Amino acid sequence: MRKNWIAVDDVNAKPYKETVALFREYINPGLVDLLDMGEYTSIQPQSALGATIIDGNGRKILDFVSSYGALNLGHNHPKVKAAILDILVKNRVDLSKELLSPYTACLAHNLSLLTPGSLNRFFFCNSGTEAVEVALKLAARYFKGKRLQFIYAENSLHGKTLGSLSVTGGQRLREYFPLLPGKSVPYGHAASLETLLKNNPQEGEGSVAAVILEPIQGEAGVIVPPAGYLRQVRELCSRYGVLLILDEIQTGLCRTGTFFACEQEDVVPDLLVLAKSLGGGLASIGATIATTEVFETAYDNPHDCLVQTSTFGGRTSSCAAAMAAIEVFDQENLSERARTLGEHLLAGLETIKEKHPDWIRAVRGRGLMIGIEFNEQIIDQAHYLPAKIPGLRRVLKEHLPGMVAAALLKQFGILGTLMLNNRSVLRVYPPLIITAQEIDYFLTSLDDLLSQGPKELVKNRVNHAIGSAGLKFITPWTGSFLKRK
Ligand SMILES: Cc1ncc(COP(=O)(O)O)c(C=O)c1O
Repeated sequence: MRKNWIAVDDVNAKPYKETVALFREYINPGLVDLLDMGEYTSIQPQSALGATIIDGNGRKILDFVSSYGALNLGHNHPKVKAAILDILVKNRVDLSKELLSPYTACLAHNLSLLTPGSLNRFFFCNSGTEAVEVALKLAARYFKGKRLQFIYAENSLHGKTLGSLSVTGGQRLREYFPLLPGKSVPYGHAASLETLLKNNPQEGEGSVAAVILEPIQGEAGVIVPPAGYLRQVRELCSRYGVLLILDEIQTGLCRTGTFFACEQEDVVPDLLVLAKSLGGGLASIGATIATTEVFETAYDNPHDCLVQTSTFGGRTSSCAAAMAAIEVFDQENLSERARTLGEHLLAGLETIKEKHPDWIRAVRGRGLMIGIEFNEQIIDQAHYLPAKIPGLRRVLKEHLPGMVAAALLKQFGILGTLMLNNRSVLRVYPPLIITAQEIDYFLTSLDDLLSQGPKELVKNRVNHAIGSAGLKFITPWTGSFLKRK
């Protein structure tokens, strides 16, 4: 064995600080610094089951992030695990592009029983961004390449590869990249969309092939559009002859109280994309689902059948995992569970908001897709800024939900995090298998934390940041923050 080689069997026996150091050296030092600020690096992930992660000291951590919605079934769901193990133990053909896997075929069949309307053609891939890329390309091919643009919503998130990023409205993610041409509209405002669509040329410069939207915006801060919005958008797309792509990567698979969020307005898009929890938390699988008409117009002859492929897409073990996962979602009626537990959670958060109006500006969401919008002005009441660090107060304000999440983790063993495109919102995405008691524990912990007051929160966080990363880290960070703003 080479000098310093780490055998796979030895990984778990190594002190966890070596993992942190290797991440810092080989992967992403900035990320390690950021996680260290919230003391996430103190949690050695040892094992996990359901909504609970166990760390190296045997401490239980309650997961209220669900890996951004990828763990709707929680960690290591036994039925999903059994489905994957069965493939491995029996030496099934897990990967072959030449041989047709029965699991891929049967997954498509079962999904077609759950999708609304005639969304009956499936392309399986490995991630959300890939599913979005495939949907955009299908839309472009549907118009034979004559329509050159897509319409997307401000502050949206559809992925970080160049195509999906081109239809992602989050400005901070877009800067510096060469993107496809497109137009953005305010989310939830059908009239603005109509203004664009009304003048849509049939082809050439400025012509639009598709509108892409999230039924509820996730990373924008859990933005629920006005009732009727999706239906209006559907109607406008049909009237002006452009395709509608719905991104259900966060909202789908029961999270918002129905299998797909679009069912709540009886809307059937032309293309729907899924990923995250489709693999039941154990497989990396995404899906682009098209109506037969869209698919067959886009790829309409045998020469086209290899234009869109993905080496690992639709592999047997991932499809077996997805089959088991959707069976659990469907048979255990997790939509209903998300709906009732979501109502309980939201009602509890409303009570906390009324008790702590200086802390919380709004709570919102549907099912178990919930966000808490904090009021950054509370930082002005903290009266604790130990050193004259330029920009520190503004950084603290921007990271208020991040600081709340860090304190929830340290004091109460609750894993939380913020949203990518809206730093004032704390994400509340527990797995759908969470219990009412665990939700109550979250609520009493949050109430307890906010009752301690803002000074305690700021003092603990600032002292940790200065202690762990040092002023040499904080000062350039706040400096770059000031420059960016
Ligand atoms: C709504 C939505 N679409 C697409 C994506 C991209 O998915 P992935 O990270 O699997 O590429 C995400 C990721 O968070 C998402 O939330």
